[in-house]
Amino acid sequence: TGYVSLDPAFVNTASTKSAITFLDGEKGILRYRGIPIEVLGEKSTFVETSYLLIYGKLPNRVELSKFSTLLTRHSLIHEDMKRFFDGYPSTAHPMAILSAMVLSLSSFYPEAIDVNNHEQIDITIARLLSKVRTIAAFSYKKSIGQPFAYPQNSLSYCGNFLNMMFSVPAEPYEIDEDIVKVLNLLLILHADHEQNCSTSTVRLVGSARTNLFASIAAGICALWGPLHGGANQEVVEMLEAIHADGGDVQKFVKLAKDKTSNFRLMGFGHRVYKNYDPRARLISSAAEKILTKLGINDPLLEIAKRLEEAALKDPYFVDRRLYPNVDFYSGIIYRAIGFPSNMFTVLFALGRLPGWIAHWKEMMEDPSTKIGRPRQIYTGEVERAYTPLDERA
Ligand code: CMC
Repeated sequence: TGYVSLDPAFVNTASTKSAITFLDGEKGILRYRGIPIEVLGEKSTFVETSYLLIYGKLPNRVELSKFSTLLTRHSLIHEDMKRFFDGYPSTAHPMAILSAMVLSLSSFYPEAIDVNNHEQIDITIARLLSKVRTIAAFSYKKSIGQPFAYPQNSLSYCGNFLNMMFSVPAEPYEIDEDIVKVLNLLLILHADHEQNCSTSTVRLVGSARTNLFASIAAGICALWGPLHGGANQEVVEMLEAIHADGGDVQKFVKLAKDKTSNFRLMGFGHRVYKNYDPRARLISSAAEKILTKLGINDPLLEIAKRLEEAALKDPYFVDRRLYPNVDFYSGIIYRAIGFPSNMFTVLFALGRLPGWIAHWKEMMEDPSTKIGRPRQIYTGEVERAYTPLDERA
């Protein structure tokens, strides 16, 4: 019925209007609610930026304190949920655990299932932002066989996360404020990126008036893929492979250009940026700084820099306007802090959470929202006879 246009992968089609994030891929500009990420990265915290994205403005002192208190109050997960971890193999990828556990939150807080229950929404948002951090840290503790470290109300959002990740009963974790600062920066830089694959997933699932926990669980699944958030783990594994191979970056650039190789330079290229990803610029300089501060000499940083230089000189990458993206340098910082590589995409999920929430909320509050339902161009048989089984070739 009517004319249907074909745009696979949404290369040219806007799926929605949105007032959350402005992105100019030609110029390399990214702003949340109008504020440049460079400014937020320097001056804001992840909690404040989350408020900005979700509620549309910077919080005043009272609003910020109320929001932080709400996050602090909702950091525990139900004790019964702790038992879930026993059911997973210790080798389970934490992204699998994260998505399943976030979906499970809707069974513990069934009042969130009714999306018309407006009084619940702020609590549900706080629960998500706070508990995802706890689930992430617990899944790591489970994977290395250490006891869970409970959240502590006296700590900041990032301080609390670091403590749950790295403290052991025998020795408290000493929180380094420079690490807290760089973690805030990374989470802020991941906080939203308009209609990317996982955010579009959250919106599509939510458009069926599906609850926030379930919609976000779907977003986490989309993020896991190596072309999306999973790329940050792949980058470090690629850099390790180059290192193990003797550090010949040209060899890998050549491989990435060879279409038969099935190999891409991970952390390179972007659907919308046809210029240097502004997030990558901030992350690469933060990586240099924090490694120097911590006295870490990671050979992967030097390999990443050489790989970037080699690719940016190569006509293949120049012609296609392929630059390092957000995932290219982030893993080097996560490694320096002590995160294993299978936790990198979990950190991306934690950072992207306020963006997902903001988009779900914006969509739900728009009375013109309809269920997302793309069309297709049918290419199959028009009509066929049913051949009885005995007569089939
Ligand atoms: N290495 C080698 N060639 C590449 C790369 C790369 N990383 N990225 C794109 N190309 C080539 C691609 O083969 C194509 O060449 P041709 O025109 O000859 O067919 C051209 O560049 C355009 O690429 P595309 O696949 O049509 O672009 P896309 O917009 O569909 O894909 C992308 C974007 C990010 C999936 C892709 O660049 C990619 O696979 N990059 C590596 C994975 C990665 O780093 N993902 C993280 C993205 S940023 C954060 C996030 O979203 O999570």
